[in-house]
Amino acid sequence: MMRHNRETLTEDFMKKIMKTMAAVIALTLLVGSVGCTSTAKTVFQKETTAAAATTTAATTAAATTAAPADATTAPADTGTGTKDPTKLVMGTNAAFPPFEYLEGSAVVGVDADLMAAIAKELGLTLEISDMEFDSLPTALSNGQIDVIAAGFTVKPDREETMDFSAPYYTAAQTIIVLKDSKIATVDDLKDKIIGVQSGTTGQFSAEELTSTDNIKGFASGMLAVEALKNKQVDAVIIDNNPAKAYGDQNLDTITMIEGQFADEEYALAVAKGNTVLLTKINDALAKLKADGSFDAIISKYVK
Ligand code: ARG
Repeated sequence: MMRHNRETLTEDFMKKIMKTMAAVIALTLLVGSVGCTSTAKTVFQKETTAAAATTTAATTAAATTAAPADATTAPADTGTGTKDPTKLVMGTNAAFPPFEYLEGSAVVGVDADLMAAIAKELGLTLEISDMEFDSLPTALSNGQIDVIAAGFTVKPDREETMDFSAPYYTAAQTIIVLKDSKIATVDDLKDKIIGVQSGTTGQFSAEELTSTDNIKGFASGMLAVEALKNKQVDAVIIDNNPAKAYGDQNLDTITMIEGQFADEEYALAVAKGNTVLLTKINDALAKLKADGSFDAIISKYVK
């Protein structure tokens, strides 16, 4: 009897456990599927807002496969790490002398020459896509360009969405003011109107000094300098080399305040996870640095 009872008890107990387990599994599945749906939705929204040009097919695929939120549209595996196996498409904003600027309709400067030399090493044809500076990260993540070469500073938050090559140039933010200005250090900028190129480290530096209401974003550093000359802004914060280039063009009106910000490193950026292209670029860059070609490009443009 005792034995039988015990068996029944055990059986009951087992049944209970099974039921509880089934309930737990069902709950897990439910939570899991809810989680999945919301991930897919996030990706869908991200894709559609990030890239206006994203096709319906692409967004549908992203929504159904529930790719990780930071997924980028990696180039098809062409072996070269580039979207087109014969081309290297460089994205830049050619309003940043001496790194990139227009000579007629041609983009010239340090980055243009550097990327031409890298493309040659890789056996690819260089194509340059000139666009707004703050469109570059999206163009890279949606595969419109293979690499950003734009006097582009390595920053931890940028490293979350793209991968950087070895650095190739050290720069620092410079303050440009009118010659008769009383501004002498960053402390004098607190309640001043600061002009910057939108999306640049100049803008982020300004944000550390004053409220965003006091910061005016322009499509190029040149336009910010024009606004300074027209007294629409009190100062411009921009990288030292373009600052010098603008200064040289406006010798009697503007002046530079240097040594107020930490150094920054310029590097080339590829889409997050594109190690094939990144490795090739780093190898080519190392070779150009070692054989003197890189220094020759710098001394051609940086005086
Ligand atoms: N170094 C700064 C940054 O990465 C400014 C770069 C601007 N480049 C350009 N081509 N307009 O934010």
